[in-house]
Amino acid sequence: MKVNKAVFPAAGLGTRFLPITKAIPKEMLPLVDKPLIQYGVEECIESGIHDIIIVTGRGKTAIEDHFDRSIELETVLEEKGKYDLLRAIKKISNLTNFSYTRQKESLGLGHAILCARNLISGEPFAVVLGDDIIDSKVPVMKQMINVYKTYRYTVLAVQRVKREEVSRYGIIQGKEIDKGFYKVEDLIEKPEPDEAPSNLAIIGRYILTPRIFDFLNVAKPGKGGEIQITDAIKALLSKQPVYALEFEGNRYDCGNKLEFLKAQITFSLKNEDLREGLLKFIKELDLVRIYN
Ligand code: G1P
Repeated sequence: MKVNKAVFPAAGLGTRFLPITKAIPKEMLPLVDKPLIQYGVEECIESGIHDIIIVTGRGKTAIEDHFDRSIELETVLEEKGKYDLLRAIKKISNLTNFSYTRQKESLGLGHAILCARNLISGEPFAVVLGDDIIDSKVPVMKQMINVYKTYRYTVLAVQRVKREEVSRYGIIQGKEIDKGFYKVEDLIEKPEPDEAPSNLAIIGRYILTPRIFDFLNVAKPGKGGEIQITDAIKALLSKQPVYALEFEGNRYDCGNKLEFLKAQITFSLKNEDLREGLLKFIKELDLVRIYN
């Protein structure tokens, strides 16, 4: 069965970015001129996924407004003859199909995915964590779907991380069956470096089979007292194979301030209108004056 749907868990409080996230959803923080979540949505569309399910929570209506039409704005832009902007605005609301559901309580990533169950209707589906922005030649989701087409079971995106960083991620233990492609043997959520079975970390892209809901439905709180998707995938391992793909691309954890800034610089340097001015600014940066 084709992967037609992608779930975007977007109910988190964004505490790492307070105070900006007090009234603005972290998914709406700009990366150059688009909100973070739009990058993940566009990645899905470029990968052939056209049904986007966003799991929101209280205070997140800006996400729905962003992907909806804004008749008032369209009218004003039309009257003023600002046709380029009008096209850009209309393009967003015509991107694809969006559905929304709410996670009423912050009970963890696994619980957020479970909230989308009724909208999935027994199909394989993708999960995209919008904080993980991946700059790659071939969209990461497309790389994963290409593998899924052969194996037809769960596929996780993984990346090697420094040993001291393993406690920030779900970590897999796997047998390499092709270059950068693993059959998963075990998983553990956010282990300490001395208990991690490898340094292969799960990054925010998953293709899951609907069987995962059987395990999410009965999952007990795990690390941090939250219902973890990693634990449910570990339970799934006893019934179905799970694979992991070391994808091609540079990943920025935009839930982290420094990484978010690095992403701003990289994506600005890729933008023809900004590149020259930004390079000039960087070259001329007067560090002495800034520090004093
Ligand atoms: C979540 C998952 C973790 C995964 C990570 C990727 O953690 O629980 O397994 O490695 O996303 O970004 P979070 O970053 O939400 O704490």
